[in-house]
Amino acid sequence: MLDLWYKNAVIYCLDVKTFMDSKGDGVGDFQGLADRLDHIEALGCTCVWLLPFYPSPNRDNGYDITDFYGADPRLGTLGDFVTFIRAAHDRGLRVIVDLVVNHTSIDHPWFQAARRDRASPYRDWYVWSDEEPADKEEGVVFPGVQQATWTYDETAGAWYMHRFYKHQADLNIANPAVRAEIEKIMGFWLQLGVSGFRVDAVPFLIEHRGLEEQEKPKGDPHRYLTRMRDFLSWRKAEAILLAEANITMDEVDDYFGAEGDRMHLIFHFMLNQNLYLALAREDAEPIRRTMAATPQIAFQSQWASFLRGHDELDLGRLTDAERQECFAAFGPEPTMQIYGRGIRRRLAPMLHGDDRRLKLAYSLMFALPGAPMLFYGEEIGMGEDLSLKERDAVRTPMQWADEPNGGFSKAPADRLLRPVPETGPFNYRDVNVAAQRDRPGSLMDDLQRLIRVRRACPEVGWGRCTVLDVGESSVLGLRYDWERGTLVILHNLAERPVEVVIPADDLTGLRPLFCNEQDRTMRDAREPIALTAYGYRWLRAHGERR
Ligand code: NOJ
Repeated sequence: MLDLWYKNAVIYCLDVKTFMDSKGDGVGDFQGLADRLDHIEALGCTCVWLLPFYPSPNRDNGYDITDFYGADPRLGTLGDFVTFIRAAHDRGLRVIVDLVVNHTSIDHPWFQAARRDRASPYRDWYVWSDEEPADKEEGVVFPGVQQATWTYDETAGAWYMHRFYKHQADLNIANPAVRAEIEKIMGFWLQLGVSGFRVDAVPFLIEHRGLEEQEKPKGDPHRYLTRMRDFLSWRKAEAILLAEANITMDEVDDYFGAEGDRMHLIFHFMLNQNLYLALAREDAEPIRRTMAATPQIAFQSQWASFLRGHDELDLGRLTDAERQECFAAFGPEPTMQIYGRGIRRRLAPMLHGDDRRLKLAYSLMFALPGAPMLFYGEEIGMGEDLSLKERDAVRTPMQWADEPNGGFSKAPADRLLRPVPETGPFNYRDVNVAAQRDRPGSLMDDLQRLIRVRRACPEVGWGRCTVLDVGESSVLGLRYDWERGTLVILHNLAERPVEVVIPADDLTGLRPLFCNEQDRTMRDAREPIALTAYGYRWLRAHGERR
């Protein structure tokens, strides 16, 4: 029996290091996180995604791992991890963790053994070249910070391949021993109680760059994703794979599998980028266009929707002109931009702290077909710290209260892993959980209600979605049908108030579920519906369909 819990999951992504420090050493830990699970539960989220928490020199915020079977000692022991898992399960929360197996830190014992000895069994766990590769400057992921994708290693006497920073050597995924080890890693964490993985850099796992043709696995490389899925499901039927795969729409089948037998969920990067374009233009057309271009996926597959995450807002799939529109609207200063393609800011500052637009943006994201994901701090509208390097700008500690260090830690401020913003409109005194809790109309209060409504609308996760032509380009009109339930959801992306008519001759009454203003009126589906500036309405078709 398949367990499709993820189809309607509400995912909360956090970094243990920056969530809550229980020991007062300036670094968040598992005990602190366990103490704050009530917050995540009260919000209504159903699944927690932990960013990497493994032993690491932390040159890429933990995505540079030195031991796949451990926990960073600053965060706690594996015992603390399991205690946290149990506390999460007690509250009905599932936990997924990052699976980062495209590469290891160059400090990993495997790489150290491999570089020192050509005869080491670990040599072939990585990708080497004796000659200087002609393509060594191609495919750089972090332009401006990363110089190349191959680096010469004196000790090894050879070049090693790294798609990311040079301290992250790529594993040779074509090597059966590496594949076996990846399964062992998955099996280990499943056994400790996780419900699956957010899989890092999925397209690179199957690219086999730097290998000779005869070294590459035969057949369609995407079949490896089926293999991962099979292994996962054999070990734990309810477990999921959530892919970080910024793919084009003609690759959708390859990654989900035409039968829905590869990745369970994939972040919809294309829709995310076009959503920002739509917000910038105050016109829903880029969203409609992207939804029309998104192929049908199998019933057991699902998109993951998001506004912001722990990386830059990547706008690389837009045209140059479209990207410039987004830069102008959301990140006009050079320091706000990164890697030539993105913005290293959080949502609230990008929307100038405009409460109306923030609430609209979240309501819109939750209304899209898929499972919504929130990045910690989004629920209160946290800002960024542009004085921090690269993407660390959006990774400042959680702001819990108007207390020293925002209530994140009792350590002296200069000992914190990263500073808590003290100045500017998003400082911890003005923006924190305690100030918004139980305050009707606060962003957090609104999100809590939104999540409750979204969870009571299984049509969004399960149903057939139709984009409605409501006659106003600024308005995104969505209709969901599932079993006997029908939803109509309207979002006005513009400041200009509008009136729209729903093209739904088969519907009679509409009952409001969630709106930007007080609305309890049952209405006739044929009557025009007014939307205020940045207004939205979630409506349920009431009674019999005609
Ligand atoms: C994608 C992660 O989201 C990012 O934070 C990281 O730098 C790269 N993968 C490399 O692991």
